[in-house]
Amino acid sequence: MKDIRKISVYDTLVVYYFSGTGNALKAARWLADRASEYGMEVHLHSIDRFEKVTPPELNGKTLIVFCYPTHGFNLAPIMMKYIAKFPRGKSGVVTLNTRGGLKFGKIYFPGLSGVAQLLPMFLLLLKGYKIKGSLPFDMPSNWISIHPGLTDSAAGDISRRRERQIGKFAERLFEKGRAFSYKFFVYLPLDIAVAPITIGYYFCGRFIFAKSFYASADCNDCRLCVEKCPTNSIVLVGKRPFWRYTCESCMRCIGICPSKSIQTAHSFVIPMMYLFSLIPVTAAAVNILGLPADGILQDVLIRVINWIAVFLFLIAGYFIFAQVLRVKFINRLFEYTSLTRYWKRYIASGMKLRDFGTK
Ligand SMILES: Cc1cc2nc3c(=O)[nH]c(=O)nc-3n(C[C@H](O)[C@H](O)[C@H](O)COP(=O)(O)O)c2cc1C
Repeated sequence: MKDIRKISVYDTLVVYYFSGTGNALKAARWLADRASEYGMEVHLHSIDRFEKVTPPELNGKTLIVFCYPTHGFNLAPIMMKYIAKFPRGKSGVVTLNTRGGLKFGKIYFPGLSGVAQLLPMFLLLLKGYKIKGSLPFDMPSNWISIHPGLTDSAAGDISRRRERQIGKFAERLFEKGRAFSYKFFVYLPLDIAVAPITIGYYFCGRFIFAKSFYASADCNDCRLCVEKCPTNSIVLVGKRPFWRYTCESCMRCIGICPSKSIQTAHSFVIPMMYLFSLIPVTAAAVNILGLPADGILQDVLIRVINWIAVFLFLIAGYFIFAQVLRVKFINRLFEYTSLTRYWKRYIASGMKLRDFGTK
C-alpha cells in the first residue's frame, strides 16, 4: 500500500533478473517490495532462456535494474548477453550483483565482484543509460561445487542483514534518485587485481565446471533439471542428463534435484586436469607452429591454444565419462568420491520450485 510520506523520484521500477538458486531473485523482490511502498509501478522479468530482449515500456520516470549473481568474478554470462542485446536508451539504470557471502562463527566474510559491477555499468553507459546506482550484495554463497552449503542459521543471518541493507539502499535510490556506496572504491583495487582470474574463468574455467556435473545411479528420470535449467543446457542422452558447454554452473539443478543425485564429479575433473597437464601442448604449439621464443603475442596464442586443447580434451573425456557411468558400479565409485555427495546443498530460503520458471 502506498505510504503517502514516501515520495520517490521514479514512478516505475523494471527489474530484469537472473538467479540460479534464488539469491538474486530474493534481492529483486526485496527491492520491488520497497518500490511498492513508494507507490511505484513494478515489473519483474526473469531472463531465463530468453530468446529476445523485452525492452521496458517507458512511462514517466522509469528506473531499470539488472540483478544477477557474480560468477567467476564476472556477471553471469546469460546476463552479459542480455545487457549486450539490450536496446540503447536514456533511462536511469542500477546494477545489483549478488555475491557469495560466508559466515564462520560470528564473523561475516564478503564475496568479491571482480568486474561484475564495472563491466555492465560500462556496457550500459555505452548504450546511453545513466548509472543511478550499483550495489554488490553479499548473499549466502551457493557455489557448492567448491564448498559445502552454508548452515540454515548462517544463511539466515546473512539474508537478514541483506534485507536491512537493501531497505536503506532503496530509500536513498528512490528518494534521492541515486545510490552508490563508498565500498565500491574500497573493493576496487581487489576487484581489479582478480581481473586475470576473471579472464581465465570466462574463457576456460566455466567450461570445465560445465563438464563436471553428472547424475548418480539414484537419478529417477524426473527431468526436473532439464525442465528448470535457465540456459537449456541439460539434455537427455538415453535417460540420463548430460550437461552441455552452455551450462553456467548456476547450481540450480544440483540445488533442486529431488533425489540429490546430481553431483560435481571431483574425481573426474581433478584427474582429467592432471592428465591434461602432462600433455606438452605448449611445446607442441611452439614447435609445430614455429612461434617466436617470447613476447606477448606468443603468450596470448599459447593460452588460446591451451584453452582449445582443454575443451577438446574435456569433450572427449566427458563423452567417455557419460558412457562409463551406465555401469552401476563405476557410477557409485564416482558418486562416493564426489564431495557434493556429502555436502549440504543450497537454495535460497523460501524459494519454491515455481519460482524457478523457465520463461
Ligand atoms: C559458478 C559460480 C561462481 C561464483 N563466483 C563468485 C565470485 O566470483 N564472487 C563471489 O562473490 N561469489 C561468487 N559465487 C557465489 C554467487 O555469486 C552467490 O552465491 C550468488 O548470491 C548466487 O546468486 P543466485 O542464487 O541468484 O544464483 C559464485 C557462484 C557460482 C555458482
